[in-house]
Amino acid sequence: MHHFNYRNGVLHCEGVSLEAVARELGTPAYVYSDATLRRHYRVLADAFADRNVLIAYAVKANSNLGVIATLAAEGAGADVVSGGEMLKAMAAGVPANRIVFSGVGKSEAEIRLGLEHGIFQFNVESMPELHRLSRIAQEMGKRAPIAFRVNPHVEAGGHTHISTGTPETKFGIAWHEADAFYDEASRLPNIDPIGVAVHIGSQILRIDPMRAAWEKVVSLARRLRDRGFNIQRVDFGGGLGVPYKDGEDPDSPTIYARQAREVLGNLDVQLVLEPGRLIAGNAGVLISRVEYIKERDGRIFVILDAGMNDLLRPALYAAHHEVLPLRTPAMGAERRAVDIVGPICESTDRFAKDRPMPPLKEGDLVAFMTAGAYGATLSSQYNSRPLVAEALVRGDACVVVRRRPTFDEMIALERAPDWITSG
Ligand code: LLP
Repeated sequence: MHHFNYRNGVLHCEGVSLEAVARELGTPAYVYSDATLRRHYRVLADAFADRNVLIAYAVKANSNLGVIATLAAEGAGADVVSGGEMLKAMAAGVPANRIVFSGVGKSEAEIRLGLEHGIFQFNVESMPELHRLSRIAQEMGKRAPIAFRVNPHVEAGGHTHISTGTPETKFGIAWHEADAFYDEASRLPNIDPIGVAVHIGSQILRIDPMRAAWEKVVSLARRLRDRGFNIQRVDFGGGLGVPYKDGEDPDSPTIYARQAREVLGNLDVQLVLEPGRLIAGNAGVLISRVEYIKERDGRIFVILDAGMNDLLRPALYAAHHEVLPLRTPAMGAERRAVDIVGPICESTDRFAKDRPMPPLKEGDLVAFMTAGAYGATLSSQYNSRPLVAEALVRGDACVVVRRRPTFDEMIALERAPDWITSG
């Protein structure tokens, strides 16, 4: 379900023509749908309405201030993995006491920031991190509420690069050492071990591996309680996937919610969820203009003005994004297999190979669908291209939520050394 549809032959985001956005903002640009973002959040929130739940939106999926603010206004908390994400979430209106701090490499400064603001919880991933957290909390005279993120030894994830629940990955504490970690936490000053967390990977289409991981987490929570620990929360992580192609049919949020509730049973805890892609994925598209059609050696290259620096997922994970022309093709227009590529000087700057596409010509506009999650957040200035612009649509209104920096702004952060300029 999303709010991108053709109206009078032109692809719209809610009530706004994407052609109009391209004219106003230029291309490439991300365009997000407010109604889609809010709808996805609400579906989850409603499914757990009668439970004590914190839906901590995984900011890494889309950290635009406008997007976070939209979700914060709905009541979302935030799952963050850096000081930058934490400050952004707070700037967007997420109260600190609804922020979960995840990640294997929290710096001293990040821990201090979290403690200073009184965040909801640190998801701790190693013994040295636990000790660092205890020491800093002691120095600051604060208490640190923590959950350990356990690595449940469950295989899942849409791609090996985004699977995190197996022992080979750096994530989580070993499943069989969990009790020892909680024992150590209870001995350390200024640490409150109050939760158990898990996250086994991203773009997971079937609920079964998630359920297997959740069951382990719930059994651990029960055991810890029996052993006298004050476990008040379980964090089921993020990870429910979204369809990127026709025919891809991930288990629905309804199934997800039903299974989560079943696994929790009568365990009286606050449930924490960290969805990212599920909320932002199909709430955004990347619009781009055709620069050239290049025919060579029997291949047709559609060269766009968007590159892998703007949308990295195909280059990094061989990910599939549907590419739609902004104008519906003429009835009966023949499709031809083309390679859709960007302007970056890398062979991996290819969004699709042998993709059947309706006729496209120089100047035409296209949209990469389902680009709202891990699109703009993974963008870079590679090839010295200013960071991609972003817009947010609500009904007939469209606001630029991140403007494209000028070349001067991009260059201003750098300088040539004095030994050149004064010489
Ligand atoms: N919680 C933690 C601790 C995570 O590491 C992640 C994602 C999430 C929650 C949110 O997962 P989601 O609900 O979005 O699946 N760049 C990759 C995805 C990387 C996911 C990293 N962690 C991609 O574009 O597919």
